[in-house]
Amino acid sequence: MKLRIGIVTVSDRSSRDERPDLSGPALVEMVKSKGWDVAETLIVPDDLDVLRDTLTLWADSGDMDIILTTGGTGFSPRDITPEATRFVVDKLAPGLAEMMRAESLKITLHAMLSRAIAGIRGRALIINLPGSPKAACENLQVVAPVLGHAAQLLRDDAAAETGHIPDP
Ligand code: MTE
Repeated sequence: MKLRIGIVTVSDRSSRDERPDLSGPALVEMVKSKGWDVAETLIVPDDLDVLRDTLTLWADSGDMDIILTTGGTGFSPRDITPEATRFVVDKLAPGLAEMMRAESLKITLHAMLSRAIAGIRGRALIINLPGSPKAACENLQVVAPVLGHAAQLLRDDAAAETGHIPDP
């Protein structure tokens, strides 16, 4: 299934052009390598209102199956990505965040410091990823095998019935 993915980098410094955005482009590459479409990319500051409005606009556009955020999930005072996400989703999808943390703990104990969540708004799934390119890609790799089936279910696609085997 051709997934349509939006990627939003959440970083004060990258939004001010003080630091290059490395995680957004790394995720774009990974998404393309899986044969999925990149619907939109954007860099926003660590600002609750701006991120909340972006997620709302993208989810309600109907143009994206999945919205990936990267950054702002840690303990810094400015980290608000999970809060903005919680604000806009109708339902939480805790299994995705649980699995990302569980698998990431095999790589680094710092995975415990991720407050990332995932949730559903309408027919779009929003997934928080950490901010470094390496961490963002490691986390996406964990959930990637089930995203096709997740999108089928969100679209209420009849083919979802046959899709209970995770993608390779
Ligand atoms: N998960 C994986 N797989 N690999 C990592 O290197 N880094 C962690 C964690 N999750 C990491 C990871 C670190 S150091 C932090 S602080 C949290 O994600 C939150 O990252 P963020 O504040 O950049 O969003």
